[in-house]
Amino acid sequence: MSHNHTHSHGHGHEQQHAGLAHTHDHHHGPAGDWDPSTVQWYIERYGDWPSPRLLAGALDIEPGQTVVDVGCGTGSLLSLLRKQHAGVRLVGVDGSGEMIRAAREQTADASLEFHAADAAALPLEDACADQVVLLNALHHFPQPAAAMAEAMRILKPGGTVWVGTDEDVYDMAGWSNGRVRDELSGVGFRRVRQTSRHDGDVVLNVLSGVRRA
Ligand SMILES: C[S@@+](CC[C@H](N)C(=O)[O-])C[C@H]1O[C@@H](n2cnc3c(N)ncnc32)[C@H](O)[C@@H]1O
Repeated sequence: MSHNHTHSHGHGHEQQHAGLAHTHDHHHGPAGDWDPSTVQWYIERYGDWPSPRLLAGALDIEPGQTVVDVGCGTGSLLSLLRKQHAGVRLVGVDGSGEMIRAAREQTADASLEFHAADAAALPLEDACADQVVLLNALHHFPQPAAAMAEAMRILKPGGTVWVGTDEDVYDMAGWSNGRVRDELSGVGFRRVRQTSRHDGDVVLNVLSGVRRA
């Protein structure tokens, strides 16, 4: 697999994050459309994208916690979190079985737990998670409000949801920090906060909200 870096510093619009906003030919929306060739394309194009590092840097994870990555794709964020936090339960969920297969293969780490399931029906117990993270994922979901309600359900009281989205994805997918904020507030998350982090030309917007204790 090649990790070319040409995309990560924005040498032109055509090299930016088009695939994440449904413009890649093979990807027409629902998670089930991630066929093997699309998944391979995704790995090659975004395998070294800086956003997982940027989001990992925003999280505040303590030993013994459970972190759930919804729309985890190939598991880059979870792999990174495993390197930083040995004693944490890390769970990835993705609506595409093909992505979950690729995630298991790419991460090659039996300590990571993966499930193929829809964000609107997570196969996880109520109040099991300390942190729920979504990276460049919410705008893909057909039912973002239902996904936010599920994040709330699986979070422990006082737990935090984090929604990280690349700035150029907002432009292409017609989303905004305001819309993410509304989705979070809409299901009752408290203390909704917004920050942004960048690496070169890549700007990651991070919104967080807390489940009432
Ligand atoms: C752009 S990728 C982001 C993957 C990963 N978070 C990352 O940053 O590399 C969006 C992911 O959302 C998943 N997805 C799309 N619709 C979904 C749904 N309804 N439920 C769960 N996952 C879904 C896709 O399969 C895909 O892996």
